[in-house]
This record gives sequence, C-alpha cells and structure tokens, in this order.
Amino acid sequence: MLSLLLFVLSCLSLAPLSPAEKGLEFPQYDGKDRVVDINDKNYKKALKKHSMMCLFYHGPIPDSKELQKQHQMTEMVLELAAQVMEEKDIGFGMVDSQKDSKVAKKLGLQEEGSTYVFKEDRVVEFDGLLSANTLVEFLLDLLKEPVEVIGNALELRAFDRMEEDIRLVGYFKNEDSEHYEAFKEAAEQFQPYIKFFATFDKSVAKELTLKLNEVDFYEPFMEEPLTIPGKPHTEEELVEFIMEHRRPTLRKLRAEDMFETWEDDIEGIHIVAFAEEEDPDGFEFLEILKQVARDNTQLPELSIIWIDPDDFPLLIPYWEKTFKVDLFRPQIGVVNVTDADSVWLEMDDEEDLPTPQELEDWIEDVLAGKVNTEDDDDEEEDEDEEDEHDDDDDDNNEEEDEEDDSESDDDEDDTDDEDDTDDEEDDDDDEEEDDDDDDDE
Ligand SMILES: *[C@@H]1O[C@H](CO)[C@@H](O)[C@H](O)[C@H]1NC(C)=O
Repeated sequence: MLSLLLFVLSCLSLAPLSPAEKGLEFPQYDGKDRVVDINDKNYKKALKKHSMMCLFYHGPIPDSKELQKQHQMTEMVLELAAQVMEEKDIGFGMVDSQKDSKVAKKLGLQEEGSTYVFKEDRVVEFDGLLSANTLVEFLLDLLKEPVEVIGNALELRAFDRMEEDIRLVGYFKNEDSEHYEAFKEAAEQFQPYIKFFATFDKSVAKELTLKLNEVDFYEPFMEEPLTIPGKPHTEEELVEFIMEHRRPTLRKLRAEDMFETWEDDIEGIHIVAFAEEEDPDGFEFLEILKQVARDNTQLPELSIIWIDPDDFPLLIPYWEKTFKVDLFRPQIGVVNVTDADSVWLEMDDEEDLPTPQELEDWIEDVLAGKVNTEDDDDEEEDEDEEDEHDDDDDDNNEEEDEEDDSESDDDEDDTDDEDDTDDEEDDDDDEEEDDDDDDDE
C-alpha cells in the first residue's frame, strides 16, 4: 500500500517535468471551442461539413447561477467529446429550443435534454447518460458497419456470449444478395441499439441452424431464438417484427439508452432487479432471475429491468435513499415511475435468496396487482399523522396503527426520508418519450 502511494506521488510530481512514458495520456479539454452554437444561418453548413453531426437540444439558458453552472458542465462534456471525436470528423452543436425554435422544428428536434445525431439521411436520438464516455462510445458504435459478418467458429462464440443484447442473425448467399441488402437497410434503422449479424458461410449457418435467407431474432437472456417467419424478408417486414418484439422479458439497464428504457414503463411501473454480476450472491440471484424470465417469456406484460449497480456508481446513494434498499445485496421490487414509490421483495439475508418458484409467485402477484406500491401508502400517511398529533386523543386509530407497526418494522426512518425523495428526481428531466425514432428516415 505504501509503495503504491509513493509510486502515485512520484508520478504526480514527475509527470509535468519529464513525461517519460507515452500511451496513456488521458484527453483533457484543451480549451478550444468546438461546439457550434447552431442557428438558422449556420445549421446547413454545419450538417454538410461533417460526416456525422451531434446536436444537443436544450431549453433556454436559465438566469440562476446554479443552473447556469449545470449548463456549462453539459457544455464541457460536449466539448470534450467534440475534441476527442475531431479525428473522426464528427461535428457538435447546441440548439436552444427558444432562440432557435425554427431550426429545431426543421430538424425535427423535440425533446429538450436529448442529443440527436445526424448521419447521412438518418437521425438517431441518443437518450442516454450524457457523459463524455457514454456519448463517445455511442458515436463510435454508430461509425461501425451496421451488420457484422460472422465468418468462423471463433466469431460465432463471441456472438453466443452477447446474451445481454437484442441480436439478429441472418444467413445469405453473399454480399450482393438483395435479401442481405434489405437486412442491412433494416440494421441501419436500429444501429447502435440492436445488433445485426450475418453469415455467408455454410458451416456457421449450420451451427446456427439457419437456412438460406432465414433470420433469427435473439431476445436477451433467452436460450433459443425466434425465427422470423416468411423468409426472405423485406426491410419493412424485418422492421415490423423487431418493433413488435423489441421489449424483452428481461433487459439490462444500459447507460447509452437508460432514459429511453425507463420511459418504456408498463402501466406506470417497472419491476426492477438490482444485482451485481461480479458478486457471488448477485450472480446467483441473476441466474434465478434469468431462469424465471425464460420460463415466463410468453407473458407480454412482463419486462424486468436488471440494474447492475456497478454500472451506475453515481446513482447508488440516490437509489438507496429513494428506494430504501441496501444495494450491496440483490433486490427486486416494483417502482412507480411517477413518484418513485416502491415495494421490495423481502429477503432477510444472503442465505435467503428466493427460489425460482418464490420469485415466480411474487412476479405473478405483481402482475395481478396484489403486490403494488399503493397498498402501504395509507399506512405511511397514518404514521405521519401519528407523529404530528402525538398529544391528541387518537384512541380511534389505535387498531389501525398497531397493524401498521407490525408491518413496517424495518423501515423506521421512513418518515424522515420521505420528504427528501422529491429533490432527487432531477435526473429524470432528460427523459424522452418514444422509441420510434429509429424509424425516422
Ligand atoms: C403511481 O403513483 C401515482 C402518484 O402517486 C399514482 O397516482 C398512481 O396510481 C401510481 N401508479 C401505480 C400503478 O401504482
């Protein structure tokens, strides 16, 4: 430990004097302005100039100092991304929803706080976490070919391991096949959110049990794919099938489209599972969860969001406070997306992970409305009242109160925390409405 500290110290002090080693110079903002303030005079030129243009659409710049700082932070994220992506010929701009409302309308920008990427004749909405890392990763993915070709067994193994993603794979005669062309066109509409693969190799196709011109759709975490009926497919048929099957039974929350996922709630709620994949209990819980998802994938209204807290360290304290759960342990619960009210499946300790059957029963109760976020609400209100009117004659309520106490043993600090939850919802401001944008041509 001490030697590590000394090492770090020596690096810090020496680095500016003699940068002996190269290869890990982390990009730092160089202070140059690259993000263009878009208006109706410059937008056409800006779009023409670059192979891809990334536009952040924002509300009017506020008067308050604090909010101005927030805006500047966002600008810095974009500046750093612009600096890093300069090499790749990607331009960046900001569009003010009030000042530049005409441009916004022309370009079809709708959601404040969203980022729109213009690539050739397509617009792709980025509805993820606005950090330089996530945005740059997203843009790099957009630069790739929309379809990846699987040519051998090793590449096939890599494909098999991508169980977290929605994937399609098709077998075509060769690159000139018109059906491959249609597949590619469809792929462009979902890039980079849905992964498209193709093979022209007979033995790979055999491994995948694909016939010529057949396309298989892999839902995340499922063992068997669905074969899209009616081969060969037109672009429209592929798009239609994907739109219909897009919401998986179990999906992992990803930084690149987290707000879009969160907005895709099911009648105002999400079933949310927290599990750290690298943690033994988390891993075990996840395996149980996958099992239950596989057994129930036919239920159209079931879509569980799996969150690996490791992916969102900045949100952990917020979630723990808002949901009143310990995220060092696996958790599964129901969250109301309107007010972030939640209920969680009781697990007393690590030894007490639910069995697949127990989990399935609980999920059934959720879908039937028997487990919901509303039932305990009166209870919480009563507790508040009790606190406020301690001296009052409240004999009438005694029975009810007793019942309440027995049920809420382990959330004694409920009342303290309750008022805080509303302040924490700023993150949601960036939310988007639709996932149809991939369609926009
Ligand atoms: C979610 O919360 C809102 C506001 O408290 C409430 O009106 C709504 O009924 C709740 N929805 C569900 C499905 O419980």
